[in-house]
Amino acid sequence: MGSSSLNLEDVSSDSLTTELLRRMKCATQPDKRLILIGPPGSGKGTQSPMIKDEYCLCHLATGDMLRAAVAAKTPLGVKAKEAMDKGELVSDELVVGIIDEAMKKPSCRKGFVLDGFPRTVGQAQMLDEMLEKQGVKIDKVLDFAIDDVILEERITGRWIHAASGRSYHTKFAPPKVPGIDDVTGEPLIQRKDDTVAVLRSRLEAFHKQTKPVIDYYWKKGIVAKLHAEKSPKEVKDEVQKVLS
Ligand code: AP5
Ligand code: MG
Repeated sequence: MGSSSLNLEDVSSDSLTTELLRRMKCATQPDKRLILIGPPGSGKGTQSPMIKDEYCLCHLATGDMLRAAVAAKTPLGVKAKEAMDKGELVSDELVVGIIDEAMKKPSCRKGFVLDGFPRTVGQAQMLDEMLEKQGVKIDKVLDFAIDDVILEERITGRWIHAASGRSYHTKFAPPKVPGIDDVTGEPLIQRKDDTVAVLRSRLEAFHKQTKPVIDYYWKKGIVAKLHAEKSPKEVKDEVQKVLS
């Protein structure tokens, strides 16, 4: 439903009050522009909803957006599918285009959490140019540092809610009802690229193409290294310490 057709009289008082309180809290929050970098399964998608809510930001996950495009069979999705299935990166132009468009959303007015972007030095440079035009810059880059050996169990046990991108894990973060999203009650799915074989090429892409992005921001002095092998709660505490 478009916002123009929304009749506020039909919205429950509870929902209105919750939204009002959220907006009042957000009004006093400073702007923040954050990047989360880490290998597949390092916890970017797990921590993003908390960061987004806590600091009133929008969550822009290129992987989620590309998967939605693939599922809807849009021209963008058709172009991206082959690379994604193989665990390779899609072209810089394609992802920079979707990020540029997504950042214009009203929910990004206080800033954003970029999850899975930029993933090449080329993307980082294009992002810098984009932000420079708006007179803003990245405040912090969270480096989800973790050893590769931990990632296989995380990736093969993951189940997601496709529409929201919410992540679960059969062992580490089980849903209340197996196979069902806690929030919507909709079924969970496993990602097509969450296999041991595809994980291998995703890790290779990370080490070759994305690790240099961490160095790129390290030189700017804005990288905070996290211990991403710790429990979700401990990682959350580290994130809050870094951002407070
Ligand atoms: P994308 O969707 O971004 O995948 P990814 O980078 O491989 O990262 P993941 O989503 O697998 O990991 P995550 O860090 O979000 O882990 P999560 O929190 O879910 O990209 C997919 C594809 O799209 C790419 O391969 C590429 O083809 C394309 N693409 C996307 N962006 C692109 C770009 N910018 N340029 C070019 N191509 C692009 O956690 C994983 C599991 O572990 C979950 O089950 C979770 O419950 C569990 N878990 C999380 N934290 C913990 C913890 N602390 N302890 C125990 N378990 C945990
Ligand atoms: Mg993710």
